This record gives sequence, structure tokens and C-alpha cells, in this order.
Amino acid sequence: MNRRPFLLDRGPVSIATEQDLFTPIHKGLRSMMYDLSSGLQTNDFANLDETRVLVTDLEHEFEVARSAACMLCVFHYHAEDEQSAIFPAAAKFQDALISSLIEDHHGLTRRELQITQAAHQLLDLKDAGKRIEAGVRLNQSANELIAAYVTHMNREETELVPVMREHFPDEQQAAMQGQILGRMVPERLFGILGWMLPSLNVTELTNLVVSMKKTSPPPFFDAVAKLRSARVDPARWSTVEARAGI
Ligand SMILES: [Fe+2]
Ligand SMILES: [Fe+2]
Repeated sequence: MNRRPFLLDRGPVSIATEQDLFTPIHKGLRSMMYDLSSGLQTNDFANLDETRVLVTDLEHEFEVARSAACMLCVFHYHAEDEQSAIFPAAAKFQDALISSLIEDHHGLTRRELQITQAAHQLLDLKDAGKRIEAGVRLNQSANELIAAYVTHMNREETELVPVMREHFPDEQQAAMQGQILGRMVPERLFGILGWMLPSLNVTELTNLVVSMKKTSPPPFFDAVAKLRSARVDPARWSTVEARAGI
């Protein structure tokens, strides 16, 4: 797998909308969580092949987990990105809030690991009835993780975004985002964008496209355009094109 950071030699790229490093990416993560929840609650745990595919999507192998298909990995790396590029600077102004958000991250990681272990144990069950019972518990644990994660993201958006707006000018926030994007491998970056683009409203999408057109290298913009045509509803995209004048 290519682990070379994608953007380091390609200049800055912005995927934020209006001085908000959190809400756009969180919209993508919420869509992933809703999809995960839907897959879990409809899965036939009696069917081992179907269940194996589901567990692969969930799987959380920290050393090799760079795949965008691994949903729990995406949640985990999101927390890591925040802690490395945003939280240290923000802690100078809101230490208690940042400590509490980091505490949340640790709790979320513990839940993610427990779910992964439970999913693997479930695969080892030979009896279909036992797998169905374990599937009920797995679904409940995932729902608890999603509830905790959504609450955490809401806190970041309602409590931390105002702090960032008050203390960090646009350029500084863009530099933080550049740091996060610069160390992402393409699979993860495009995996996240593939969930984020269809999760934004037309105003956010328009701002994003205008900003990307100005700041990103043409090959990156073209790759995003391809992704967008596969993922964003065509009618919504026509509105974005008309507003963005592209
Ligand atoms: Fe977070
Ligand atoms: Fe977050």
C-alpha cells in the first residue's frame, strides 16, 4: 500500500468551509456512522460470509489500518488528527475543554477496540444461533459508540469551533488543516472526501468547490471532481455548479 503523504509536495489544499475545521468532516463521519448502523442492524449473523464482510468493514488493526473501508479506523484516525494538529494550540486558551475532549477520545478508542474484539469473537462461533445472539450485542455496543461519538462531535462543534474562531485567524486554521491533510495517504483522504462531499449542503459544497478551485493543484481538483460525480446527487451538483460558476 502506498503510504506516502499525498499532499506534501503538492501545495496547500483547503477542505474547510468558513473557518470551521470540524463540522464538514463530522458530517462525513456521521454519514459513515449511520451507514454502519444500518448495515449492522440488518445483517444476517446466521450467514457467515455476509458477516465476515461486515466485520472486515469494521476491523480495527492499528498498524495496517489505512483503509477507508475500515470505519472504526477512520474514527480513530480522526481523533488522532485533532490531537496532533489542533488540540495543542487550542489548549492554550481552553485547557479544561481540550482535556475533556481528549478524555472522550480515549473512551471512544476503548469502545472501538471492544467492538472489534467482539466482532472477531463472533466470527469464531460455529453455531448460527449463537452468532445471532452475539450480533444483537454487537449492534447494541455499536449504537452506544455512535451515540457517544455523535455527542463528542457536537461538543467540538458547539464548544470548540467558537474558541477556534476567536483565537485563530483563517490562515492559522488553514495551516492546521494542511498539517492533517499532508500526512494522509490517498486512500484515507479520498475515503473521507467520498463520505464528506455528499454529506454537505449545497451552500457548503459551493464554498468548498470555489475554495478548492483556487487553492488546489489541478490533478487533485480533477480527482475530487471524479469522486464528486460518483458520490454527489446530480441534481444537487447542478445547483452547486450554477452557484459556483464552474
Ligand atoms: Fe474529537
Ligand atoms: Fe472531531
